[in-house]
Amino acid sequence: MALRYITAETDRRMTCLVIGRAGIGKTSLLRTIPESEEVFTISAEAGLLCVRDMVESGRVQGAEVTGTADVIECLDNLRFNPKWRDRYTWVFIDSLTEISSVCYEEMKARYPDRRDSFNMWDAYAGIMNRIIKSFRDLKPYNVVFTCLAAMEFDDGKKPIVSPDVQLKSLKQRLTSFFDEVFYMTDVPAEGGEMRRMFITQPFLAFPGKDRSGRLELHEEPDLARVKAKILGAWRAHPAGVVRAWSLRGRRRERRQTRWDADAHNQRSWIRICHIRYLTGHL
Ligand SMILES: Nc1ncnc2c1ncn2[C@@H]1O[C@H](COP(=O)(O)OP(=O)(O)O)[C@@H](O)[C@H]1O
Ligand SMILES: [Mg+2]
Repeated sequence: MALRYITAETDRRMTCLVIGRAGIGKTSLLRTIPESEEVFTISAEAGLLCVRDMVESGRVQGAEVTGTADVIECLDNLRFNPKWRDRYTWVFIDSLTEISSVCYEEMKARYPDRRDSFNMWDAYAGIMNRIIKSFRDLKPYNVVFTCLAAMEFDDGKKPIVSPDVQLKSLKQRLTSFFDEVFYMTDVPAEGGEMRRMFITQPFLAFPGKDRSGRLELHEEPDLARVKAKILGAWRAHPAGVVRAWSLRGRRRERRQTRWDADAHNQRSWIRICHIRYLTGHL
């Protein structure tokens, strides 16, 4: 078999897993995909109500899946059907929790005998791994998985938040499949109102991961913005722009310092509120 050598060719796509409680706004992330880019949605939960206007306008297209066979049919079309490949740039899978529970039900029906439970879990893990990895590696699309969050206790009886899927080994391994894992939650903002945020690194009991190293601990829950940052294409950051100018003049330099300080204070402030707020919830 011919080896596939590692090349320096950069991958201009993003794949991520967004974990969060029900109602936090995972499905609504569809609104943050640029309008010029078409998205194929695989909906396994009857939860498209929040983007109904987008469904009516044709902005949200895709399939409502009721079994793993439907999911695999979508996968094959996205892979091989030229019409789909030319059309879509994003694939939005909503949600892994539902796909996992559908898969579990199918396996239970296939292995009704309790003595077959080992085979049942083996088959379940095989199908789930195949689905997750195949979509994750589905070039050239940007791929977003959503997943409900589940609260558990680790061996030291400390609470931890993990993705809500069937089978403990899959639950533990799931985040390792992805380069980017965002925990979506709300944080108190100035003025007392709540603000939705992505946590992009392991923080307190929350899962998070950013292999690009380009994201802040907290990021706006905006897929287009996050993707641009990960790929190094984010230019709207005033500090970034002013930093480049700063060599040219002291006035500009002062402006940059002030902006950086503001940004820094704002970030620390959010962090402190966040820690206080979230520890109260653990
Ligand atoms: N960024 C946001 N700002 C304000 N409201 C939002 C935001 N994101 C989601 N919502 C609202 O929250 C509700 C639940 O959102 P939804 O996307 O269905 O959550 P989930 O998919 O996590 O269960 C919807 O009514 C939606 O309009
Ligand atoms: Mg939803």
